[in-house]
Amino acid sequence: MKRDIISVLDMKDDLEEIIDLSIKFKKQRYEQFPEYVNHVLGMIFEKPSTRTRISLETAMTQLGGHAIYLNPNDMQIGRGETIGDTAKVLSGFVDVISYRAFKHENVLELARNASVPVINALDDMEHPVQMVADFMTVKERKGHLDGLKVSYVGDGNNVANSLILSSVILGSDISIGCPKGYEPNRKLVEAATKISKETGTHIEITDDPVKAMENADVVYTDVWVSMGEEKEREQKEKIFLKYQVNEQLVSHANKDYLFLHCLPAHRGLEVTGEVMEGVHSAVFDEAENRLHTAKGILKTLLQ
Ligand code: CP
Ligand code: NVA
Repeated sequence: MKRDIISVLDMKDDLEEIIDLSIKFKKQRYEQFPEYVNHVLGMIFEKPSTRTRISLETAMTQLGGHAIYLNPNDMQIGRGETIGDTAKVLSGFVDVISYRAFKHENVLELARNASVPVINALDDMEHPVQMVADFMTVKERKGHLDGLKVSYVGDGNNVANSLILSSVILGSDISIGCPKGYEPNRKLVEAATKISKETGTHIEITDDPVKAMENADVVYTDVWVSMGEEKEREQKEKIFLKYQVNEQLVSHANKDYLFLHCLPAHRGLEVTGEVMEGVHSAVFDEAENRLHTAKGILKTLLQ
């Protein structure tokens, strides 16, 4: 049966295994695998992308296969062909599909109708593939993933949703500091709470950024205005001011905290240049790890 990665929950049983596989790929960057020759990844992107698009395309190429970038405006989908029909047609051509979409329901619809694996390359609910790179970076720097405290200060968005799920799956506590009304998705928090009971981890959601930051081993933030929310910019930039990750806020984290950001970053808004460029920041290793984890994910789905 084919396997999709639409949510972090789809990696509940092997997230750390995929991370470890990706760490191996990092050591053998240019190794090709005969089994992937002529395998094709179809990549549908409704929104812009630097990291996700280029890491997936490079990963598929380096593994020995090929990737095709698909802009919905250049496909019949842009003229009303259904997502279901598109999924069925693409399944006859390609071996795996990645999809960056505005709406989570559309990713689900594509996956339901595709007979090949589907990877969620970010939607309004989650960003699962980002998590593999994030926690790979944590494992490289800290040596382990369990027993840590991950603090996310900012918008309770797609990245925050996936971060809560990944933290509890991997055995870390997670604290989210976000303004009231901008909390992470309730259903996903419920799912994470169930998992946290199995893994003995703790979830905290607070509107106090200092409380969220206290004793953090990993400090994470993301943009305040996600793709598709541009109309909310003015309002959000005011509301989120006290949630900026700056030197004062990170002074409440553990001394050897690691700073992560999925990127792109807006210096002076969700994070200061000082923190981004500081000694604790691993954001560019994290970005590079998108390549190695794209291979880990593709290998896991294509076997
Ligand atoms: N972090 C991330 O997904 O970046 P892109 O939007 O550039 O793909
Ligand atoms: N939350 C951001 C992540 C970008 C990688 C967005 O959805 O735009």
